Amino acid sequence: MKVVSNTAIALDGRIATAAYDHFALGTTTDRRYMSVLRARAEAVLVGGQTFRNWPLPLLPDAEALASLKAESFFDSEHPPIEGRRWINAIVTRGGPIAPRREDERVERIFYTPATGDTDPNEIVADLERRGVKTLLLECGGDLLAQWLAAGRVDEVYTTVCPVLLGGRGAPSLVDGPGFSYASAPRLDLLHAVPVGGEIYCRYAVRR
Ligand SMILES: NC(=O)c1ccc[n+]([C@@H]2O[C@H](COP(=O)([O-])OP(=O)(O)OC[C@H]3O[C@@H](n4cnc5c(N)ncnc54)[C@H](OP(=O)(O)O)[C@@H]3O)[C@@H](O)[C@H]2O)c1
Repeated sequence: MKVVSNTAIALDGRIATAAYDHFALGTTTDRRYMSVLRARAEAVLVGGQTFRNWPLPLLPDAEALASLKAESFFDSEHPPIEGRRWINAIVTRGGPIAPRREDERVERIFYTPATGDTDPNEIVADLERRGVKTLLLECGGDLLAQWLAAGRVDEVYTTVCPVLLGGRGAPSLVDGPGFSYASAPRLDLLHAVPVGGEIYCRYAVRR
């Protein structure tokens, strides 16, 4: 199974304010591109904290995909979305989860370990059994750090947004305990495309 992440980041690497609130960091173009990545995946995974901020179905948006065709956007190919279904995976240690809307195209799966933490390898194995070929991580830096540490991320997509959020303790692209410089994941840049004030980047994680 291929695992890719997609995150909008401020120029200083933060993905939200120190209050962990919800807002769209990227432009509508970024939202369109997010739809492309969702259309290419069979499952989208977030953590409980991210889900609480947006407890809605995570699906590609047909209108956004249609409007992309008029743009010369890098790498915007995607399979048709008509008649398809998506898994929305939510990883939680048991924090309060209250989905706000159901959608017949979405099957929600909650990964809640009885003890300890969920292991990315176990989630990958379970999603593979369910037929998932591409998993899209839309989680925050806490979970992305765990998936990188487990060696389970193949590609990292980031939209660099022209804003500086700052804030000690504000979530960033990758959080957790951090890596030593020697053990830090290295990435190869595959694309970097500026559109308006944003830069759309795609990296491959080195093995
Ligand atoms: N800019 C962007 O593109 C972007 C993308 C994603 C998120 N965000 C923002 O980032 C902030 C959230 O960041 P975050 O790093 O806290 O996000 P997160 O992806 O929601 O991860 C943290 C949550 O995941 C659960 N969790 C983490 N590790 C686990 C494990 N090993 N086993 C089981 N559950 C585990 C916990 O959920 P419970 O608390 O439910 O136990 C924890 O609170 C929010 O403000 C969100 O809106 C921004």
